[in-house]
Order: sequence, then C-alpha cells, then structure tokens
Amino acid sequence: MNVADSELVVSILKDYNYHLTKNMNEADLLLVNTCSIRDNAEQRVYGRLAEFKKIKKTKAGVRIGVIGCMAERLKQKLLEKEKMVDLLAGPDAYRDLPKLLKTAENGQKAINVALSKKETYADINPIRYDTNGVSAFVSIMRGCDNMCSYCVVPFTRGRERSRNPETILHEVRQLFNNGYKEVTLLGQNVDKYKWITPEKSESVSFARLLEMVADISPKLRVRFATSYPQDMTDEVLHAMAKHTNICKYIHLPVQSGSTAVLEKMKRGYSRAYYLKRIQAIREIIPDCGISSDFIAGFCSETEEQHQETLSLMNEVRFDFAYMFKYSERPNTLAERKFLDDIPEDVKTRRLTEIIALQNKHSLESNRKDVGKTFQVLIEGLSKKSDKRVFGRNSQNKVVVFDKKNHNIGAYVMVKITDCSSATLLGEAC
Ligand code: 5AD
Ligand code: SF4
Repeated sequence: MNVADSELVVSILKDYNYHLTKNMNEADLLLVNTCSIRDNAEQRVYGRLAEFKKIKKTKAGVRIGVIGCMAERLKQKLLEKEKMVDLLAGPDAYRDLPKLLKTAENGQKAINVALSKKETYADINPIRYDTNGVSAFVSIMRGCDNMCSYCVVPFTRGRERSRNPETILHEVRQLFNNGYKEVTLLGQNVDKYKWITPEKSESVSFARLLEMVADISPKLRVRFATSYPQDMTDEVLHAMAKHTNICKYIHLPVQSGSTAVLEKMKRGYSRAYYLKRIQAIREIIPDCGISSDFIAGFCSETEEQHQETLSLMNEVRFDFAYMFKYSERPNTLAERKFLDDIPEDVKTRRLTEIIALQNKHSLESNRKDVGKTFQVLIEGLSKKSDKRVFGRNSQNKVVVFDKKNHNIGAYVMVKITDCSSATLLGEAC
C-alpha cells in the first residue's frame, strides 16, 4: 500500500520539478512515507528521522517531511516532538504537497492532514521508480470502514472509497503496453470494492472488476489483496476459477482461531464461518494457495483461545502467513475498552509457537509441490547467484531455477525438484 502511495507522491512532485535521488545526502527534500499499524513500524520511522536530521544539520535548505499514516495519527504532536520536521501530509493530502512545500521553503511549518471521503487519486498515473518492470501494484480503493477493534487504519486512512474502474483499466492497459506482466489490485478490503456510475445505472463489483482486468490480456497475470472473510463472495471465487490469468492465491487474514477473540476484535465472523469460506475456496478453486495473518496475545486472550488459533492452523494448513504480536494502538476501541494485559513474554511465546507451526505447514505445503510443474513468471535474478532467477507460480510461491537463456519477464514452465519452507527450487522444462 505504501509503495503505491509513494509512487503517487513521486508522480505529483515530478510536475513541480522535484526529481528522485537514490542518494539521501544529495537530496534537498527528505520525505518518509509512514505506517502506524504497529508500534515497531513507528519506531523505525523515528530511526529514519534521526538519519534525516543529521543530513539537515550539515546542509542548508534541506526540508524534512513526514507523509502517510503517522502524520495523520499524530498531527501537530509530531511537529512538536520532532522539531526538525518541516511538513506533514496525511494519506489524502498528497495533491497538496507542492503547496505545502512552498510554505516549508519559506521557513514555516506546513501541515495538511484532512481526510477525504472522495479522494482516490484516480487520475494520477503513479511513477514506478523501484520496479522490476514485470510486476506492479494498482490501487483500486482507499480507506477502510471495518473498524476492527485493534486497528488504527480506519483512523489514519479514512473512509472506504472505490476508484473509477475506467481509470483502473486505463492504468493497467498502460502497464501492460509498457511490458508489465502482472498487476496486483490493492485495497484494505477489496471485497468491498463497488463503483456506481454517476447516473446510478450500473454498479461494478469486485468480481466484475477482476474479470474486466483479466480480460485485458491472457498474458497479464492478475493478483489482488487483501480479502476479508465476511465479505469475500463466491462470485469472486468463480471469477478466479474461470480466468486462467487470475492467480490462484488468496490472502485471507483470520487473526485468531477463537470465536470469542474474533468477537472482541470486532471481525464480524466466527471460527466456523471462516472455515466455511476456506471450504468454499477449496471447492471452487482446488489448487488455490491460501495465506493468512495472525495476531498473538490480543487483550485477555487465554491459553485455550491461543490453542484454538493453533488448532485452526492445523485444520486449514495455510501455505504462508504473516504473524504479529498484538500492539496496542492509541484511540482504537481495544485501547479504550480493553486492557493490553498479556505479558510481553507470553505474547512472545505464543507468537513463537504460531511461527513454528506455520513454518512446519509451509514446508509441508512446499514438499507436496516437489515433482509438480508450474508456470513461473520470472521477476529477477536470484539474490544468491546471478546464474539463477526467481519468480512466482500462480499460487504466489517463490520458485528459483537456473537462468540459462531465460529473460526477466518471461513465463517459463518449471519442474520442482526440491524446496525449503520459504522457496521452491526447480528446473525449467
Ligand atoms: N497489532 C498487531 N497486529 C496488527 N495488525 C493490524 N493491527 C494490528 C495491531 N494493533 C495486523 C493484522 C492485519 C495486518 C495488516 O496487520 O494481522 O491483518
Ligand atoms: Fe484494519 Fe480490519 Fe480494516 Fe484490515 S479490515 S485495515 S484489520 S480495520
């Protein structure tokens, strides 16, 4: 999400004569795009600001800006705490950056953290500055209305709003014409995507949008994130099953295996409901890769409830997962209503157990693929050797194999010969 936002910001600033530099010491403007989702994300931003400050002290005229969720969450308080920061722009204020920069250049503090119900940056063509030229993110909606009790996102990114499908299709077509082979459609909850034409005569659902993007070309792979268990429809699953170029992979965060904890998290579904959605995926798309998110040690989570998370993992056997310790976020419902009462060492132990189990499941899942052949889209050279390349199969698993005469951006059939819990190793057929 933040990569996509940074690409928008670069595009907006380019028109005002700002150019990117890879060398921080060369910059006249230092911007940090921020995330507030967990406390450690914010701590990393303070680390980055400390580096910026050193540069500002040695070079006249340098301006420092904080953009994105942390600017939105802390507002004026951030300027009071970080005296060297010149400007703040929230996630809906990027268009205002040129004006804010003018104010900052005149030596004044500049701040715009207004949230919008409409802004989708639909007309801005993001500049892909750190790209492999193969795969790109395309934002289809912004904000989130779910209000999960632990989550800061609805406060920092505002209300849910969908982007005009015509502008999405235009952007994807342009990417494809420029040689891109894969797009990932992005939103906090893509299943809530809905566009109603101004005449209110037609409405485009996420399933319909997926099909429209997939129809651009069979040579273009389509991915999306993130799905929400309560809102993911069978219509989306059928669209995935019907189009070979829609990747067979769903990221479906569960957070906890306990219905009582899910209720407290305000997720709006039970353990049984989640398991039914998994069953639907497996029935409609038998070869679908499935991953999830977990939070360990949410407020008053008992040992039994933690065990329910492990048992759900054993039932589903996810291919992959992102796993976190609960991090209390100011002003969320959980912060206001519940105690963050699970001791740090217990959170750590529960998280370690979740990670160990997931590693076991990932390895088992990868072992099942040994001997199978997959179509892989090559994304780049392997980090360990430039004689090898890496790419992904439809199920989003990373596959590494000998480069030989294969080019980045090519589709290659690869037979899997070996694996670790993180990677499949293979040979091109
Ligand atoms: N603490 C820990 N993890 C969180 N997430 C969101 N908010 C928090 C929090 N306060 C996790 C959820 C979500 C992912 C993007 O981040 O698992 O799915
Ligand atoms: Fe946060 Fe829940 Fe929205 Fe995800 S769905 S961004 S966890 S509020």
